[in-house]
Amino acid sequence: MAPARRPKKSQYTLDRGMPGAFEGETVSRRRFMTGTVHGAGMLMTAGMVIPAVGFALGPVFKNVTLGWQTVGTPDMFPEDNYLPVVITIAPGIGEAGKSTVYVRKRNPKVDTQPASASNQWVAITSRCSHLGCSVLWVQAAEHFICPCHGSVFDVEGVRTAGPAPRPLDRFYTRLHDGFVQVGPRYSVNTELRAFSPRDPGEPLDGIGQYAYPSRPTVRKLPGHV
Ligand code: FES
Repeated sequence: MAPARRPKKSQYTLDRGMPGAFEGETVSRRRFMTGTVHGAGMLMTAGMVIPAVGFALGPVFKNVTLGWQTVGTPDMFPEDNYLPVVITIAPGIGEAGKSTVYVRKRNPKVDTQPASASNQWVAITSRCSHLGCSVLWVQAAEHFICPCHGSVFDVEGVRTAGPAPRPLDRFYTRLHDGFVQVGPRYSVNTELRAFSPRDPGEPLDGIGQYAYPSRPTVRKLPGHV
């Protein structure tokens, strides 16, 4: 009886059935090329995404602490009108890091925020609490007006019209060595109660104070959420 003939093995067929691989290979060339292309694609994607995420999230984790800044002498600031002064809010970036603050002497006839050592001068930011445009103090109307979407704020910075979700932010003030100084920024709700600084677009009335907590790296005001 003739012995059974062994089947002829094709040069391009793997014993264990891996298509496209030479005998003895554990990874086919096709799979190797596919993996290489996918890996290169992931590297290129990471090279584009990681810097973009870093630019977007970096400021959130950057801890900026600003000291007190002298803005003038007490007699410069009237009770019935705001004087615009320029302070630095982001050091190290030149003019881009400066911002206008409106300052006046506290006026018991119009100011409803309880008097304290830190608000004998009222310092209100020019940054709109809606999306951050620059508001203008219009003395004839005795209101702050935002040209972007029409928000209007009264003499205390409380919104009277438009989409802004909260009053204009304020800065602590003090008298130091005969000069008026502007200190840390804080946000207020409609009753002018102080909160740690919030970003534009974040409401503070009702549940807003909990739904929009201040950023972790923004200096928390003692005793304020
Ligand atoms: S940014 Fe001021 S109303 Fe929108």
